[in-house]
Amino acid sequence: AHVSTAEFVKSSTCSEECPADGLPEFALVGRSNVGKSSLLNSIVHRKRLALTSKKPGKTQCINHFRINDSWHLVDLPGYGYASAPKELRINWDGFTKEYFLKRKTLVSIFLLIDASIPPKKIDLEYAGWLGQNQIPMTLLFTKCDKRKKKKNGGKRPEENVEDFLNLIQESFREAPPWIMTSSVTNLGRDEILLHIAQLRNY
Ligand code: GTP
Ligand code: MG
Repeated sequence: AHVSTAEFVKSSTCSEECPADGLPEFALVGRSNVGKSSLLNSIVHRKRLALTSKKPGKTQCINHFRINDSWHLVDLPGYGYASAPKELRINWDGFTKEYFLKRKTLVSIFLLIDASIPPKKIDLEYAGWLGQNQIPMTLLFTKCDKRKKKKNGGKRPEENVEDFLNLIQESFREAPPWIMTSSVTNLGRDEILLHIAQLRNY
């Protein structure tokens, strides 16, 4: 598993606008600021292909990136971002759920969960929704480089991951695959590429 080329293709606001080349795709989904765009850059070994920000709400469209001319990585806006002015707020649900349900070339969703904090209700609910709708998904735990902090409950990333997996158990017939990652140390990068290669060969 190796990335030789990665290029931005286009931004879309609904599944109909997305690229029509039929290439298989994998979409990064998760709470605003969880690290979707950063992880995309880590996976493709590029610093600023997808734009990132300290402030939530940076990514506002469905952004397609073509990898090795043979598959797409898709960067999506985050959910749970409530601090923007109402008129700027993204209709995350309408936007992305339409894309999940209609996009035929979508092989799997990668749901990103921040492993530096205890499980959040909005993430548990989202994982539960995907599980109940039997939408293929892999959990990517982000920010595993961050040390435990008192204000975050004082748990290590490994403990937060275990808590999260236990809490979503009953929504899944089979436990979803999961990978621990960090865009700072590039932890998980090779494992993700291997996982994508396996999913593409099914
Ligand atoms: P939206 O586009 O707003 O939905 O956010 P996003 O999920 O794309 O997050 P983004 O990649 O823009 O990262 C948000 C912030 O988290 C930035 O300040 C990143 O530097 C930081 N960050 C992302 N990944 C990691 C990580 O693995 N470790 C650490 N320590 N920080 C990270
Ligand atoms: Mg983003």
